[in-house]
Amino acid sequence: MARLPLIAAALLALGNGVLGVLKPCGKAQYDPTQYVCYDNQFLCPIIAGEPLSYCSGACYSKFQYKCVNNVLGVLPGLAAGTSFTLTVSNPTLPINGKFVTAGGLHLSLGGTTSSYCPTQVGSACPPGNITAISAGSYGGGLSMADMVPGGQQVYLDPNWNLAYTQAHSAYIPPGSTVSGFAAYAGGGLVNLNGNGWGWVGCPPTASGGGGGVWNLVARNSSNAASLNNCTPVNLKINTLPGGSYAWQYT
Ligand SMILES: *[C@@H]1O[C@H](CO)[C@@H](O)[C@H](O)[C@H]1NC(C)=O
Ligand SMILES: *[C@@H]1O[C@H](CO)[C@@H](O)[C@H](O)[C@H]1NC(C)=O
Repeated sequence: MARLPLIAAALLALGNGVLGVLKPCGKAQYDPTQYVCYDNQFLCPIIAGEPLSYCSGACYSKFQYKCVNNVLGVLPGLAAGTSFTLTVSNPTLPINGKFVTAGGLHLSLGGTTSSYCPTQVGSACPPGNITAISAGSYGGGLSMADMVPGGQQVYLDPNWNLAYTQAHSAYIPPGSTVSGFAAYAGGGLVNLNGNGWGWVGCPPTASGGGGGVWNLVARNSSNAASLNNCTPVNLKINTLPGGSYAWQYT
């Protein structure tokens, strides 16, 4: 089960891109833009710009797994209530290292954080200029790490964009997905609903107003084909000291 996502990802990589100059890996030939060779005998694909690591017969992503004494294991989940930011990881993209940002009630890549503080709360409000998320139980839900009573729940909307509820409202559109998120300590945020298809970043389009903000979408077997202008990304977890980082996100 744990290896299933890797197999799905490897098959995807085979279908991608132009063949570069081949290099030998033992007796095999491989394209170094798509694979990495270990010990001159094992090939692992490069997924979302990450050359997968090798552990006793399996290729794995360091955003989800670890290899200890040649045994592949899942990274520990963050304790519930831990706050974190997310940064984009895919060294082939201009948004590599940029933050996942809250705005317009959804999470985007490389934007600026939109938040609000009521005047009567005033100086008790955090600056609200970073987008922080609070971990739930492993494989459960997520919420924004903010102060507003009732909180703001994070969910995948019906188009599998990552969204959050409006302050003072529990409304979530029908067809949304509210759980199945894994936040790995020292790793990434993984959508367990996606069956290994992962996150993609979709570049801004002229019709969408252009600008430097990319759309974040969770891929799956049925929407992947329609997202072929988008590029796989990992979402790296950066743990923060506990607490709230905005009054509310807008
Ligand atoms: C957020 O605002 C605080 C206080 O104004 C400032 O010190 C900090 O540098 C800002 N952080 C970011 C990421 O903009
Ligand atoms: C995949 O995502 C689409 C939205 O893009 C959603 O409508 C569909 O139900 C999802 N498919 C699966 C298999 O979860």
